[in-house]
Amino acid sequence: MSAAKPNQIESFYQEAEAKHLIPLWKVTAKLLPPEPQTKVLPYLWKWSDLRRMAYRAGDLVPIERGGERRVLAFVNPGLEGKYAATHTLWGAVQIVLPGEIAPCHRHSASAIRFIIEGSRSFTNVDGDKCVMSRGDLVLTPNWSWHDHGNESDQAMIWMDGLDLPLVNDLDGIFFEPYPQHKHPVTQVNGSEQKYGGAHLKPTWENPPATRSPLLNYKWEPTYDALKRIGEGPASPFDDVCFEYLNPNTGGPTLPTMSCCVQLIRPGVHTQAHRQVNSAVYHVFEGRGHAVINGQRFDWERGDFFVVPPWAWHEFANESKEEVILFSVQDTPVMQALGLYREEAYTENGGRQQVSGSFGG
Ligand SMILES: [Fe+2]
Ligand SMILES: [Fe+2]
Repeated sequence: MSAAKPNQIESFYQEAEAKHLIPLWKVTAKLLPPEPQTKVLPYLWKWSDLRRMAYRAGDLVPIERGGERRVLAFVNPGLEGKYAATHTLWGAVQIVLPGEIAPCHRHSASAIRFIIEGSRSFTNVDGDKCVMSRGDLVLTPNWSWHDHGNESDQAMIWMDGLDLPLVNDLDGIFFEPYPQHKHPVTQVNGSEQKYGGAHLKPTWENPPATRSPLLNYKWEPTYDALKRIGEGPASPFDDVCFEYLNPNTGGPTLPTMSCCVQLIRPGVHTQAHRQVNSAVYHVFEGRGHAVINGQRFDWERGDFFVVPPWAWHEFANESKEEVILFSVQDTPVMQALGLYREEAYTENGGRQQVSGSFGG
C-alpha cells in the first residue's frame, strides 16, 4: 500500500461527507468513550419557587382542552433544547385547583404521580377512580385513559414523572384526547381493593406483565415499611430504601420507570456510589444534603434534584429529624437491555471530596 498524499485523504473525506458516510476511524473516540459522557447535569429546584409559581400559574392559566394540564416541568440545563429533567425522564409539578378536572386523555408515555400537597383529589385511570392524599404514588400506565380532579377546597400539588423524553427519542409517542372532558367512573379505589394487600393477589385475574394492576400505592403502608427497620442494617448507599413493586410480577412499577422511597435516618451519611441510570429525587420530609460529583446540594422539604448517569452520589442527614426521599429512576430500561452497572466509591472512607456547593 502506498502512502496517501494529504490532498488525497482530504478529498476522500469530502467525498464521504457528500455521500452521507462517516469513516469510523475519525470518530471512534467520540462514539466509544471509556465510560458514559452524559450531558445531564446535577441540578436542584427549590420548593419555595415551585410552590409559588404553581399557585401563580393557577391564577393565570385555566385548565382546558388544548393546554391539557397546568404543569411546570424541570428543564435540565445540560440538555439544550430538550424539555427533560434527565435524558430519559420528565419531572414536573402539577397543580389542580378546587373543583377543577384536568381533561381525560391517553398517551404512549407512562406516568407516575407522587402527591405532595392536599387530599380528596383523584386520578381516574381507565374508569378506576383512585382517591389521592399526600404521600400516595399513583400510576397511569402507558395508553391508559386518565383525568385528574380535585373535590376538596384546597389546591392539590403533586410530582409528575414520565418516560416522555425516552419515548420521544424512540419516536414512539402517541397521544389521544378522550371524546368527553372526563371518563366515566366504573369503580372507586378498585385496584387498591384487589391488589393493595401487599403479599396477596386475586386468583381470578391475570393482568399483563407490563402493566401493574395496582394503581395507587398508599402512604400509610409505605411509611410503615420504612419504619419497621428501626435501627437495623440497611443499604450503605441509600440507608432504608425500598422499591415500589408491581404486585403481579415483583418487578418495577412500570416497564421504563422504577419508583423508590427511602428513609435516611438521623445522623446517617451514606457511602458514595454511581449507577448508569439517572434519577429525579423529591424531598418528601426533612432536610439534608447530597454530594454529587463532588458538589454539595443542600435540600429541604419539597425540593427536587437530579442525579445524572454515572455520577458519584451520597446522602447525608445531619439533623435529628428523619429525611424521606421519593425518586423515579430509569433503571428498568438499563436492566432490560443488559446495560445496568453500578460501582461503589471506596477511596477516602467512601466519601467524596467536596469541591463546591450548588448555588454557592
Ligand atoms: Fe397525561
Ligand atoms: Fe444511588
